[in-house]
Amino acid sequence: MTAVTDSTESDAAVGLPRLLPPPQEKRARQGLEQHLARHGRLPYRDRAGTLIRDIESAGLTGRGGGAFPVHRKLQAVSDAADRYRRTPAVIANGAESEPASDKDATLLWLSPHLVLDGLQLAAEAVGADTAILYTHANRKNDVGARLREAIAQRQERGIDRVPVQLAEAPARFLAGQETALLSHLSGRAAVPTFMPPRITERGLGNAPTLVQNVETLAHLALIARRGPRWFRAVGTEQEPGSMLATVRRLDGQPKISEVPLGIPLLTLTGELRQDGAVLIGGYHGTWVTAGQAQQLTMDNASLAKAQAKVGAGIVITLPSDRCGIVETARVVRYLALESAGQCGPCLNALPRIAAALAEIAGGRFRKGTLEDVDRWSDQVAGRGACHHPDGTTRFVASALRTFAAEVALHKAGRCSAASKKPFLPVPQATARAETDWI
Ligand SMILES: Cc1cc2nc3c(=O)[nH]c(=O)nc-3n(C[C@H](O)[C@H](O)[C@H](O)COP(=O)(O)O)c2cc1C
Ligand code: SF4
Repeated sequence: MTAVTDSTESDAAVGLPRLLPPPQEKRARQGLEQHLARHGRLPYRDRAGTLIRDIESAGLTGRGGGAFPVHRKLQAVSDAADRYRRTPAVIANGAESEPASDKDATLLWLSPHLVLDGLQLAAEAVGADTAILYTHANRKNDVGARLREAIAQRQERGIDRVPVQLAEAPARFLAGQETALLSHLSGRAAVPTFMPPRITERGLGNAPTLVQNVETLAHLALIARRGPRWFRAVGTEQEPGSMLATVRRLDGQPKISEVPLGIPLLTLTGELRQDGAVLIGGYHGTWVTAGQAQQLTMDNASLAKAQAKVGAGIVITLPSDRCGIVETARVVRYLALESAGQCGPCLNALPRIAAALAEIAGGRFRKGTLEDVDRWSDQVAGRGACHHPDGTTRFVASALRTFAAEVALHKAGRCSAASKKPFLPVPQATARAETDWI
């Protein structure tokens, strides 16, 4: 079970944690009785539009990576339902396909009823008659069995108005992308499909479809109970509320923290070595130097100064005995193998970029390799059917910037890493022959 970091006195003063169980309950999974005792009953509105207005005032944005305003998606689905006279579907996205992330699985394990509440309230807000929770049943201590139990209990007690179906997400990097998710739920491969139309217009079975990350829905369930002002009591004016972060420090083990948006990055990483580096936002994210990290706070406005984004809340400190270029090359190889291989950028550019990075990591690169990587990256910009190539090239560019001194060392046939043990998590299926490719 992933550790959850202890709350501090200042957390308690601002009412954190909100989503995770309170520390005095020793991180115990919140059963239905505990959940109702802490949060009260599910506040159905029975009045069209009121929840959407509250979500707008709260300023809730998606916690699945894109930080898109939630009220706009709710409104778009509700409008499309009226326009096309189709009853919508809502989907809780718990695929958490990013290997470095563990916050959604932890949330589903510890506070499943908050997510299920959010799913019901979102369904009510858009008038949906279909609700699906899409996640990995086996990911964490058999979370699937727990979720089935929670859903059955709620049905028995008459809490849920829309029956909830559990759907299994494949363990692939792209499986959580919303069009890939829809494709999978429609019986096809879990690969992204081309837009338009937007899924808010025509998604599952051609009905308007709302896809929200499970953490987003848990926040929504609390805003419905406590209101926008309560939500805004933490976070920044532009990016209010709290967020779940998966933090990996030097031991590489994930720890889940619930923190206000806008806290100093160093609160999550702890003290950094002067020549240290931090990965923010996961494998479509950005490496920053320790010097940059000292200036940054965990919100998109601040992180933009380092071309970074909060993403799905991943913060990883690179240990001093590992090489940032070797680690990046391992991950980029995984990302290239995970592409759906249907668009030019993924078919042509990602394998070449992955091969170039492997050469740089192995100290065998020729004159022009770095320029090639730049050129291929420019060529893919905005070209894929999904953000996979853009996210991957952003990650690569940040590594070449942040580890420029290491690249120079590799050029001279050296590497600063004392340990060759892989650090960043890469799933086994594509981690094969990890050691013999560099
Ligand atoms: C390659 C890729 C993978 C994604 N994986 C996930 C995921 O595992 N979970 C998730 O909630 N969103 C994921 N997303 C974002 C979803 O497409 C979608 O925007 C999100 O589920 C919407 O929820 P939110 O607005 O509440 O964040 C992914 C996007 C991309 C491009
Ligand atoms: S850009 Fe790549 S990952 Fe995205 S749909 Fe196209 S081939 Fe698949």
